[in-house]
Amino acid sequence: MAKHETPMLDQLESGPWPSFVSDLKAQAEKRAKNEEGINFQIPVDVVDDLLGVLELSYKHGRTHWKHGGIVGVFGYGGGVIGRYCDQPQQFPGVAHFHTMRVAQPGGKFYTTDYLRQICDIWDMRGSGITNMHGSTGDIIFLGTTTPQLEEVFFELTHNMNQDLGGSGSNLRTPADCIGQARCEYACYDTQDLCYDLTQEYQDELHRPAFPYKFKFKFDGCPNCCVASIARSDLSFIGTWKDDIKIDQEAVQAYIGGELPPNAGAHSGRDWGKFDIQKEVIDRCPTECMWMDGKTLKIDNRECTRCMHCINVMPRALRIGDERGLSILAGAKAPILDGAQMGTLIVPFIEAEAPYTKIKEEVIEPIWDWWMEEGKNRERLGELMKRQGLQRVIEVLGVDPDPRMVQEPRHNPYIFWKEEEVEGGFDRDINEFRKYHQR
Ligand code: HEM
Ligand code: HEM
Ligand code: SF4
Ligand code: SF4
Repeated sequence: MAKHETPMLDQLESGPWPSFVSDLKAQAEKRAKNEEGINFQIPVDVVDDLLGVLELSYKHGRTHWKHGGIVGVFGYGGGVIGRYCDQPQQFPGVAHFHTMRVAQPGGKFYTTDYLRQICDIWDMRGSGITNMHGSTGDIIFLGTTTPQLEEVFFELTHNMNQDLGGSGSNLRTPADCIGQARCEYACYDTQDLCYDLTQEYQDELHRPAFPYKFKFKFDGCPNCCVASIARSDLSFIGTWKDDIKIDQEAVQAYIGGELPPNAGAHSGRDWGKFDIQKEVIDRCPTECMWMDGKTLKIDNRECTRCMHCINVMPRALRIGDERGLSILAGAKAPILDGAQMGTLIVPFIEAEAPYTKIKEEVIEPIWDWWMEEGKNRERLGELMKRQGLQRVIEVLGVDPDPRMVQEPRHNPYIFWKEEEVEGGFDRDINEFRKYHQR
């Protein structure tokens, strides 16, 4: 017998999509039976009470979590999101319901052995409920009490060699696309760079020292499978400098219909016979492709490496061999002054371990600037708006590059540095009056 009536939630058990309600009910029942004889460290009926409070929220149309919550583990300034129910008498099982962020591996590849071990810890010391994964990337342990935080942390670190993720005004948990592990488009080892920078900046991740949060994300190519351009303050996107590699025989196999366009991604519907002119050449944003008889040609100088042709004909077209990445800065959600996507600040940089140039010539100068100049709770993107893109260029110590703007400014409110202007800014009105009477 379920502890609380949940008529509204029950409706979400129908339909084809995996139901979170059915899963929660199964977990509630598993805890009630406790066939494994687990020595539960938080209330056995935590999941029943979670369903109960959620049903109440469905009824009221409002949340039943109190504002905020400040909990954590010694040594760190983040990693745990404290949370308390505003109906603790009715739902004592979720009176404390803190979330722990656990650092995930690059590309989220796991062994069942590892997952079993974290489940064992969480079954005993938490609700057994998770989020796999948070939007930032972390493994999310959903729901435990304050006294269990140090216990979970001890077991994670001592038994599993596993750290917490980030939260607060600091470097958050970096995340990456699967990259070279399983993708032929990957222009650098996203997992290695993600892992390397996560380790390098552990201090910045665990102990908030910034004006606000800061995120890294790593995409192997412009397809952006981890959406770095929209969801990270510094976005690392792989690309190449030389020519796209063309296998003309495979091009013919696409034209002849032996190979399906887009690796069969549109096979659910009849789009007619593949037409290279219509589907590739006429779609190229820079119109830099053409057929020369039976040969596909690309004017690579004009290619903006949008990935379209490669995505359509992955067996015939391949990324170049001179690989690296672009760095874009400033993406953020709307609060406070509007949503932003990343702005190109480094068109091309090599991405080979130990990544010294990326660290010393880009990340750290940007941090030095933002940590001094950023206002309280001002994201990098907002500082860039307030102080201007030219400040980023000064901070990086590079020359302005036409690739950093989509178009030049149309307003003439142009600032000059005094030393750029002959005679400087100190002028005497009497000197002016000698030539112009009032
Ligand atoms: C009690 C209040 C809150 C709780 C418990 C909470 C918890 C969380 C958690 C667990 C995540 C996922 C972390 C991850 O994916 O690794 C998250 C993400 C996020 N939170 Fe909150 N949060 C709260 C309030 C807020 C508020 C007030 C804001 C904005 C003003 C906010 C903005 C965000 C954003 C933008 C993300 C997504 C980040 C991304 O997509 O990478 N949160 N939050
Ligand atoms: C027939 C000749 C001119 C016409 C019809 C003209 C017209 C205008 C107009 C319509 C404005 C905009 C006012 C506003 O939007 O607030 C303006 C502003 C201005 N004009 Fe002229 N103008 C003329 C000649 C000049 C010359 C010869 C100079 C300087 C040598 C000059 C200097 C300025 C300046 C400094 C402003 C103010 C810009 C600002 O601070 O917003 N104008 N003029
Ligand atoms: S972002 Fe590019 S390299 Fe990474 S998984 Fe997606 S397509 Fe592959
Ligand atoms: S990658 Fe894009 S811009 Fe470059 S040739 Fe292919 S379609 Fe054209």
